[in-house]
Amino acid sequence: MKLLVVGSGGREHAIIKKLKENKSVSAIYALPGNGGIAADATCVPIGATDIDKIVEFAVENAIDYAVVAPDDPLVLGCVDRLNEKGIPCFGPDAKAAIIEGSKAFSKNLMKKYGIPTASYEIFTELSAALEYLKTAPIPTVVKADGLALGKGVIIAQTREEAIEAVTDMMANAKFGKSGSTVVIEEFLTGPEVSVLAFTDGKVVRPMVSSMDHKRVGDHDTGLNTGGMGTIAPNPYYTEEIAARCMEEIFLPTVAAMNAEGRTFKGCLYFGLMLTPNGPKVIEYNCRFGDPETQVVLSLMESDLLTVMRSCTNGTLAETEVKFADKHACCVILASGGYPESYPKGFEITMTAEAAAHTYVAGAKLENGKLLTSGGRVTGTTAVADSLEKAVKEAYRLSDGVQFEGAYRRSDIGQRALQAKTR
Ligand code: AMP
Ligand code: GLY
Repeated sequence: MKLLVVGSGGREHAIIKKLKENKSVSAIYALPGNGGIAADATCVPIGATDIDKIVEFAVENAIDYAVVAPDDPLVLGCVDRLNEKGIPCFGPDAKAAIIEGSKAFSKNLMKKYGIPTASYEIFTELSAALEYLKTAPIPTVVKADGLALGKGVIIAQTREEAIEAVTDMMANAKFGKSGSTVVIEEFLTGPEVSVLAFTDGKVVRPMVSSMDHKRVGDHDTGLNTGGMGTIAPNPYYTEEIAARCMEEIFLPTVAAMNAEGRTFKGCLYFGLMLTPNGPKVIEYNCRFGDPETQVVLSLMESDLLTVMRSCTNGTLAETEVKFADKHACCVILASGGYPESYPKGFEITMTAEAAAHTYVAGAKLENGKLLTSGGRVTGTTAVADSLEKAVKEAYRLSDGVQFEGAYRRSDIGQRALQAKTR
């Protein structure tokens, strides 16, 4: 089979490496891929949002199956367009991808179908938002409606900060069109859990749970990033909580999307907060998370391509989805300065041992050398029998990846380890 994977991050590298385990795969094209992915797939310089060119490439190269990994091509209808040409895909169509594409949509969906989430108000007029903020409980959370590279969420600790955030989004277009509608919601507390789930629109098969580390600094300080590291499984996500989430959140969400005529097929990502009043949805993503995928797929024992195709053709109920009873940790190395501006173009060197455990994100190949080209550069991932060993091993392996200005958090997994020993 000839496969096409749309995207260019560490997540896509992990997906491609896992897809390659299937013996029927004869070729994988990554559009556009990256310098590290080039070792595992044929990279083609077509951008992930250049839908016309993606479709043209897929048709010309007789692609048998496509995986659309990032949020923007999904929201833009890449799957719809490939399907029109008879190419089956893993990922939701545009109608279903709106669950991530519009926070106003997802909040209204949860309200309508009684799915637990933070209480909220939606505003399309600045004056109404400012009026509401006069009496809103503080802290409060201000979110741009549309996709904003994970940066459209402001936790306002004071009324002034909330006013500034709303004004930036609505009057100053800080997030472009994404922020012309804003959601202002209740501030929730509790441990966060990421649950990625396969669904064919009928059944839901959650993958092993994980924990992201979104802030740039140790002990969850500093700016938000795309994610500086992950561990799986998440120790806060007990069997009892998992059963509750299935009952109160996962199944109702899939049913709600069906009832709205927006059947979701693909990977549905539940960003959850385990509040004192039970698990609540912080956000939905219409795709695999990054760097959650790196730890989750490292623990997956079943064949990824088989599971993905069963989501597409509605046979997930009969398909085995199994994960190892082990632990995984992924440590991201980022360019110094990320998530603000940072220099690029530094050579990346890796020991053979580190390379075997490293998914590459922001890197390009030039004259045979791997050079940094993005914020998050690599994610080194280890699997072990205990969380403690997985964390230790991921850090040891990540010592084998070097480039000028490389930055990593030093406490990936520590919060999870503390949770375990309480
Ligand atoms: P999001 O991009 O929606 O995942 O939000 C980014 C981060 O902001 C989340 O991972 C949470 O840590 C935090 N966050 C989002 N919504 C809330 C909320 N209602 N209460 C508290 N924290 C939140
Ligand atoms: N790691 C969070 C995300 O992929 O959105």
